[in-house]
Amino acid sequence: MRTNSESFKIVLIGESGVGKTSIISQFVNQVFQEDVESSSSGTFNSKTLIYDNNKILKLEIWDTAGQEKYRSLASMFYKEASAAILVYDITRKESFEQIQNYWVGQIKENGPTNIILALCANKSDLIDEEKVDEEQARNYAKEINAMFYPTSAKNDSGITDLFLQIAKKYTNSDNVRLKTDQDEVFDSTLSDSIGSQNRGSVKLTKEELNKKDEVKKKKCC
Ligand code: GTP
Ligand code: MG
Repeated sequence: MRTNSESFKIVLIGESGVGKTSIISQFVNQVFQEDVESSSSGTFNSKTLIYDNNKILKLEIWDTAGQEKYRSLASMFYKEASAAILVYDITRKESFEQIQNYWVGQIKENGPTNIILALCANKSDLIDEEKVDEEQARNYAKEINAMFYPTSAKNDSGITDLFLQIAKKYTNSDNVRLKTDQDEVFDSTLSDSIGSQNRGSVKLTKEELNKKDEVKKKKCC
């Protein structure tokens, strides 16, 4: 049974440079940077949503590093994710092919079987340089049972919708929206004050992740 407040883990995966960090930064902080540093470890940000008028849904949004040398770490993040956003760059055909040839297989192997999937065609502002046929990508999304969303982190296009639609699917509710300062909801498990949506980010090294896994194993067995 759902409580009045729950956390929902979403992970973004895809090749380096497709815009995973930029999408999160736009959604959580309404900031876009042309010169973002390539990610080297997993980080998370939070954003609070309201569904069914007064229930709280805390999105725990995990960013991963797309560079090949960090890939072995990524699977740790989607192991317990409720949703995965597979991001490709519409101007780079190989970033779409890698979704098909690598990332989807990773999710199938390491993610939960009922994970919600979304295929995100990022950099839609660069439509003139498009190298991936949108129709083909839409068909592929259907094939893998994923939602399909063109987005632009630069123009803030499609980003909020992407996260809200995923949350709708997760909660089974049509009534999902961003929390505003006017919301008179209170939940004792929220350590931040109502109105604060970005609860910071943490960086976990490989050692820390291993430790986290060990603690979990100890707790469960
Ligand atoms: P890794 O951390 O290396 O895995 O890459 P990433 O997927 O996090 O990509 P990142 O967000 O760092 O973006 C890479 C580059 O693309 C940066 O220069 C961004 O400014 C740019 N970028 C991201 N999203 C968009 C977009 O929607 N449109 C345009 N034009 N540029 C974008
Ligand atoms: Mg990044």
